[in-house]
Amino acid sequence: MDGSPTTRDGAEAPFYLPQGDECALFEAAARHDLPLLLKGPTGCGKTRFVAHMAARLGRPLYTVACHDDLTAADLVGRYLLKGGETVWVDGPLTRAVREGAICYLDEVVEARKDVTVVLHPLTDDRRILPIDRTGEELQAAPGFMLVASYNPGYQNILKTLKPSTRQRFLALEFGFPPPAREAEIVAAESGLPADRAAPLVRLAGKLRALKGQDLEEGVSTRLVVYAATLIAGGLPVERAIHTAMIEPLTDEEDVKRGLLDLVTAVFG
Ligand SMILES: Nc1ncnc2c1ncn2[C@@H]1O[C@H](COP(=O)(O)OP(=O)(O)OP(=O)(O)O)[C@@H](O)[C@H]1O
Ligand SMILES: [Mg+2]
Repeated sequence: MDGSPTTRDGAEAPFYLPQGDECALFEAAARHDLPLLLKGPTGCGKTRFVAHMAARLGRPLYTVACHDDLTAADLVGRYLLKGGETVWVDGPLTRAVREGAICYLDEVVEARKDVTVVLHPLTDDRRILPIDRTGEELQAAPGFMLVASYNPGYQNILKTLKPSTRQRFLALEFGFPPPAREAEIVAAESGLPADRAAPLVRLAGKLRALKGQDLEEGVSTRLVVYAATLIAGGLPVERAIHTAMIEPLTDEEDVKRGLLDLVTAVFG
């Protein structure tokens, strides 16, 4: 969030294997200047998707991780003292607006209401960003696009987007990819051959079925990639699974034992 975009025109797009027509939808949203909300569980590919699409479209990408303490000034900018002088420094949102970049607000439900309200005039047909402190009213440059994401699984009553905010975004739901695709992703990301990635993905499927019962959240593709990376690097399969796909999911011993039974069921 220091203001440097993570993707530049001409950068090679990071690997992303689509689950469906999400790339075409993103392109359509970008073409028509429509903001986009991505919903889905942790580690299912949302951030990678945005990085991929930004590179594909040749637009710089500014990512902001939202949290309780994030202020509107963190997004928009503030006056700072530099060498005895007060200078205005754009925040990542303002930079994206000026440059025609993509601004990606990760975990947007964590942001306070005063932050989300800053987004309103930007996310309707006005596409303007009023900056109270400087008196400027910026018209978003062509190419500016707002993308936000959140995990509906963690939502509680206090942490939802107001309808007036969420109804400004197109929304795409992400899930975990079908097993064959996920094995392909895991293989590509870890270097483990696909036939060895497949049982890890099978195990992930079984672990995900426990979501809402023993587990708050199913295992992410990210963790399956971690397990495969350890195995590809020479760690014994059982050890890799334990550290990457069991311990991160729970602290409760009896739940862990249940999960290990699933490992035995898949790997024997
Ligand atoms: N479709 C995909 N193509 C390529 N890699 C993927 C895909 N889906 C998941 N991955 C892998 O899973 C990892 C986690 O994905 P990512 O960081 O995008 O998750 P996320 O949905 O943004 O999670 P969080 O909500 O926790 O931020 C990626 O680093 C990548 O290795
Ligand atoms: Mg992410």
